[in-house]
Amino acid sequence: TDCYAVVGNPIAHSLSPRIHGAFAAQTGEDIRYEKRLVEKGGFADFARDFFAAGGCGLNVTLPFKLDACEFADTLTERARAAGAVNTLALQQNGTLLGDNTDGAGLVADIKDYLGWAIEDRKLLLLGAGGATRGALLPLLAEKPAQIHIANRTAQKAQQLVQDFSGYGPISASGLDAVPAGFDLVVNASAASLAGELPPLSPLVLATGAWAYDMVYGAEPTPFMRWAEQLGAETADGLGMLVGQAAEAFYLWRGLRPAVAPVLEMLRAELR
Ligand code: ATR
Repeated sequence: TDCYAVVGNPIAHSLSPRIHGAFAAQTGEDIRYEKRLVEKGGFADFARDFFAAGGCGLNVTLPFKLDACEFADTLTERARAAGAVNTLALQQNGTLLGDNTDGAGLVADIKDYLGWAIEDRKLLLLGAGGATRGALLPLLAEKPAQIHIANRTAQKAQQLVQDFSGYGPISASGLDAVPAGFDLVVNASAASLAGELPPLSPLVLATGAWAYDMVYGAEPTPFMRWAEQLGAETADGLGMLVGQAAEAFYLWRGLRPAVAPVLEMLRAELR
């Protein structure tokens, strides 16, 4: 039996064992998947022991995504651009590949599950932290007309424009200077975690806009409620969570599990 785990701090409420258990049952893969709590500063020691003991792969969540990026022997392009690793995979030659599947999970949820378009659309990303950095390359690969990054601290959004301008049309501003008329607004800021709403003009939403919050929960987030009141179609980040897991499963096992039944199972449990 091949062994996998998700590592973080805290980790108790991680849904990853449920998700990968469901993927394994669905595909008939014989794997074990655990959650492991590691103290801050202890990632490298944990990972060394885990792989020495025969582990095949890790999912990595807060606060260890940067440690995992340093620990990997090689990085995928999207992990290098994100500067963060959420998936480690032992390769045939014994080296450890670091990937970041968060952005691909977001894109899959938006395009395949929700059926929203990205190509030729105007996108607004709220926030300029790790969540935004991880999403930029996979979103730009879908050829949007433009991605505008708006952040409470405008200078951090400007930095992302500098880092990613070679990959596609991106621009940046503070939250108070956002242009109007976006087709898709993705909230990648930590505002929802604090139960807060980034102060935005209603004009940022084009008619028929879509609004996506990377945060998920039993209730719609303040951002989703705001957008819904303005007529937008909304979604939370539960599908991104399942999507990033599906990408990790594919990296490890070479099989693409169906996300919809797993997402619907988790949704029913959340309510
Ligand atoms: P993550 O890795 O989840 O993106 P992060 O790197 O701490 O976390 O970044 C959090 C992002 O949420 C930042 O863009 C932050 O804005 P600042 O750069 O100005 O700090 C944004 N953020 C956090 N709380 C917010 C709030 N209440 N309203 C708006 N933006 C907020």
